[in-house]
Amino acid sequence: MKSPARTTVTAALPYANGPLHIGHIAGAYLPADIYVRSLRARGKEVLFICGSDEHGAAITLRALKEGTTPQAIVDKYHALMGKAFVDFGIGFDIYHRTSSELHRKTSQEFFLQLNANGAFTENTEEQYYDTEAKQFLADRYIMGTCPHCGNPDAYGDQCEKCGSALSPKDLIDPRSTLSGSKPVLKPTKHWYLPMERSQQWMQEWINTGMLDGAQQHDPAEWKPQVLGQCNSWLKEGLRPRAMTRDLSWGVPVPLPGAEGKALYVWLDAPIGYISATKQWALDTGGDWEKWWKADDTRLLHFIGKDNIVFHAIIFPILLKQHGGFILPQNVPANEFLNLEGQKLSTSRNWAVWLHEYIERWPDRQDELRYALATILPEFRDSEFTWKDFQDKNNNELVAIIGNFVQRVFVLCNKYYGGKVPEPAPSNAAQGEQDTVLWGELSAIPGKVAEDIDKFRFRDALLTAMNAARLGNKYLTDTEPWKLHKTDPDRVRTVLFNSLRITAALSVVLEPFLPFTAQKLRAMLGLGELNWGDALREGLMVPGAAIAEAVHLFKPISDEEIAAEVDRLKSNTPVVQQPPATATAPVITPGPAMKANIGFDEFTKLDIRIGTIKEAEKVPKADKLLKLSIDVGETAPRTIVSGIAQHFAPDELPGKQVLVLCNLEPRKMRGVESQGMVLMAEDAEGKLVFVQPGSAVPPGGEVR
Ligand code: 2FM
Ligand code: ZN
Repeated sequence: MKSPARTTVTAALPYANGPLHIGHIAGAYLPADIYVRSLRARGKEVLFICGSDEHGAAITLRALKEGTTPQAIVDKYHALMGKAFVDFGIGFDIYHRTSSELHRKTSQEFFLQLNANGAFTENTEEQYYDTEAKQFLADRYIMGTCPHCGNPDAYGDQCEKCGSALSPKDLIDPRSTLSGSKPVLKPTKHWYLPMERSQQWMQEWINTGMLDGAQQHDPAEWKPQVLGQCNSWLKEGLRPRAMTRDLSWGVPVPLPGAEGKALYVWLDAPIGYISATKQWALDTGGDWEKWWKADDTRLLHFIGKDNIVFHAIIFPILLKQHGGFILPQNVPANEFLNLEGQKLSTSRNWAVWLHEYIERWPDRQDELRYALATILPEFRDSEFTWKDFQDKNNNELVAIIGNFVQRVFVLCNKYYGGKVPEPAPSNAAQGEQDTVLWGELSAIPGKVAEDIDKFRFRDALLTAMNAARLGNKYLTDTEPWKLHKTDPDRVRTVLFNSLRITAALSVVLEPFLPFTAQKLRAMLGLGELNWGDALREGLMVPGAAIAEAVHLFKPISDEEIAAEVDRLKSNTPVVQQPPATATAPVITPGPAMKANIGFDEFTKLDIRIGTIKEAEKVPKADKLLKLSIDVGETAPRTIVSGIAQHFAPDELPGKQVLVLCNLEPRKMRGVESQGMVLMAEDAEGKLVFVQPGSAVPPGGEVR
């Protein structure tokens, strides 16, 4: 194996169909960021690539659910995720998006090259088709019972319960995700990747690292669970996999006779890493090709375990069939993170959303980075609890790092007026004490880097924290506050050494706690530091100014933690079980109350009384009515409302309703809706109007 000249690090492109939560962060982004930061600090050439995955059923189904367009969904979540990454200190060189023109061109060219190389077979096959939605049903558009575990809600590509990879025809009692109807079979032509042709070399490459007679990677460096998943696929035998879909949202298949067909999202998404690199090169004047083609480049994909097969088997086949590209040297996949004893779940809102955390805990990014880094699911699933977050903050960040730095800066300010003291010659016993300290400290940067290189970030952080532990022990052993009067020379040396330990901390902790590292350097009056600077002599200059003591971390109270737990629980619909032997009528409570909002947020809502003028059905939409509502403006507004199953259009004109007027307009089934009608549900679940007690002129404000 050539020693790498540079490293291309990719982190899984998150679907732009919802915000990021701590499970995503612990799965791919935090480990990748720690890795990249550590390489950068060691002066290695590295490029860190990510972006939003904006195609696939994840997006279109979300758009349907929110009654808007796929483009509106990806625009919203691309912006939200991009900002959250920046705010959280995830330092991508580029955060790109797969709905871009450059990505469309790149993935179409990639596809055409594969086609020219004979990488595909064209097959016409019967596939499930929804006659109501008029759409073929692949992947997540179709659900049914898993043939392996009996889960009634398995998807057409995967059963989330048992993890089996499925194809739609494997499902028992299939149904359309779009309409719920029973699909019929209908022929359609697609381009398939005959993966079975790659079985041989793939088996060898994964398990020995050998490819075309050369050692490409060391399988001993791959995580056992990654090798395990790949081998279980290989054991089943690789099978042809369709690389195109009948879909309008996606990269169009660039071939005649392929109208209405798009590239399979798992073909276009990993090519997104390449198009992102091209965009980075355009933005910076860099060269994209060396990051993907030079054989002295090392390619690493940081992902969660559900993405293993796509990155370790399918994408490498595609890269090899295309030709000219290097293959990944490792795919350091993480397992899953659970939250307070349960799986993270977007639909149940059982999650800590990153952008919300940043809002609620401003300037406390490192506290969460730290807590997550100590529990990364590196080899098995792990668990985040708010209590653990509090413990890690109070007992480790505050009590170990914060305490050490605080003591050093308080004493240096008190004794030396905020200047770096001049160390003095030591006697034999003191010299011995310091030699032991430097001996232990000097092993730390190398050990941290070694663990990071092996993707053992938890161990690496433990070792880095030892630098602060050693610092605290040094202060406790030497007790400079007691010696100040009797042995000022020794105190100067001890505090000079302690400042050096602080500088070392700012280096070895930087990959994990970049905001804190930055603060420490500023406090020490130092600029950017490299890994090799950690314990460099001459770094701290006697007489140079240092900052006043500040508390790097604040203790977190039980109340703050209880509020987070309450918030989590109240966000999640509580399923109320009826008593086993109910004698009195059971009162079903409404959904749990939402978290409080400020008065300012309330005043932003513009709710008016409106009078419905006209109502008509929206073609091909069972649930939607198009309403024309007078809200006191020169012309009535058009509002599309999901009430068609509760009201006939002719019973509505003349009714007064509450209208949220300043909701962002959005298109539903091609009609722009300029607000929302507010409704309540009666005891039977039927929608009912919320009307004023007596007639109010249209446009009357509700406050
Ligand atoms: O699982 C996911 O969230 C996918 N969007 C990951 C894609 S990674 C890459 F291939 F783009
Ligand atoms: Zn299953």
